[in-house]
Amino acid sequence: MPKVKKIKTARKIKSKMKKEAKPADLPKVAVSSVSKKTPQVLRGFKDILPSEQRYWDLISSKAKALARDYGFEKIELPLLEETNLFTRSVGKETDIVEKEMFSFEDRGGERISLRPEATAQIARAYINHGMINLPQPVKLYYFGPMFRYDRPQSGRYRQFNQFGFEVLGDKHPVLDAQIVILSYNFLQELGLKVNIQINSIGCPICRKEYKVQLVNYYKTQKADLCPDCKLRLGKNPLRLLDCKEEKCQAISEDAPQIVDWLCEDCKNHFVKVLEFLDELEIPYNLNSHLVRGLDYYTKTVFEIWPVDEGEPKKAQNALGGGGRYDNLIELLNGRPTPAVGASIGIERIILKIKEANIEPPAEEKIDIFVAQLGESAKRKALALYEILRKEGIKIAENFSKDGLKNQLEAANKLGVRYALILGQKELSEGTILLRDMEGGVQETLNYNKAVKEVKKRLEK
Ligand code: HAM
Repeated sequence: MPKVKKIKTARKIKSKMKKEAKPADLPKVAVSSVSKKTPQVLRGFKDILPSEQRYWDLISSKAKALARDYGFEKIELPLLEETNLFTRSVGKETDIVEKEMFSFEDRGGERISLRPEATAQIARAYINHGMINLPQPVKLYYFGPMFRYDRPQSGRYRQFNQFGFEVLGDKHPVLDAQIVILSYNFLQELGLKVNIQINSIGCPICRKEYKVQLVNYYKTQKADLCPDCKLRLGKNPLRLLDCKEEKCQAISEDAPQIVDWLCEDCKNHFVKVLEFLDELEIPYNLNSHLVRGLDYYTKTVFEIWPVDEGEPKKAQNALGGGGRYDNLIELLNGRPTPAVGASIGIERIILKIKEANIEPPAEEKIDIFVAQLGESAKRKALALYEILRKEGIKIAENFSKDGLKNQLEAANKLGVRYALILGQKELSEGTILLRDMEGGVQETLNYNKAVKEVKKRLEK
């Protein structure tokens, strides 16, 4: 019969280690001589520290609740995609694709990019997974990081997070309205003052005619346009309308407005979207200069701007944006599928929440702090901790500390109601101390009855 090796007890291992103990001869850790500077986080990226988490929890739980209320299911998409997906959908001549993508060749020589946005991915996933065969519309939401090589400044990062929601497979204007309403409610219910900016950029047919009018107008003003706008005139004339340069903004004031050029279908669609918003008394601003920076949009486009002291802030720091993209899925070789969606920037909302002094709800209170004195008590306390946790009691500890003062201070900081204290004396007597942290009154409990007793007190 093969010999079964006995499992050694901790005590046996310890005594063996004592006998064999030799002065430590640890290998030296190699330190690179190239750079001894402490590595820093990349520009435009940031760590989200524990103290920030309550804001993230607040927003992600709100996003989840809202997605449920409006019937959206969660989808998680990869952070890397073929570069080509974004070039085709967001548009070759957009700022995002031209200037802001993190793109590189992988080891197999394929051009890939960190996703700058997720709508293109949603369209890809819809085609790849044959979602056209599901009952339509398909309603999906996502929450996660996007990457854009933007110029970092307040509210503008190179890695940022979006909560996004997309409805695919239905062209009814009520869905455009519902996407606007969801975005608005999300921000309003977080306590933020916001303003909706809305426009229609028509379909490729009516937009073509409008672009001719737009170019004709701007050509007469060419000498006064900024260098970027001079280029836009040839490449992407719609973007002339939302240039941030003051000179160009003044010129845009008198530019032809797209609503005057919408075809019958696009006009009717837009009117219906607005009627649905009116029905719910959702306030909005018709903004004929709003064109958005992504090429896939058709018909409705909108942004949500923060309102500071009564004035809606400029589009540069929009909290969210979206619109309809009826041709995107077909453009990626899927069957024609109308769609509409939006996404909201989480970091920007957190900045606004802080500016408005909105406090996320306090963390759940801890009920019991388990304190211990001495090695044997520590072992027993460790086991007691597990029992309390499994009973569903909210607990905390500081087992690496030995002094009782330190531990009680930690308990006080957490604002716990009771501390259970185990020392040598209690251990030998089979008892435990229960300390009321408010009054400091202590009483001795039978160790075996302690959990039951504590539960009874917490219920009071
Ligand atoms: P977007 O307007 O490019 O739209 O981004 C949506 C939101 O993401 C912005 O309103 C902003 O809050 C946030 N955001 C964008 N860039 C940054 C940045 N560099 N730093 C921090 N936050 C940023 C889209 O991405 C579309 N996919 C929205 C959509 C969904 N359209 C239809 N469905």
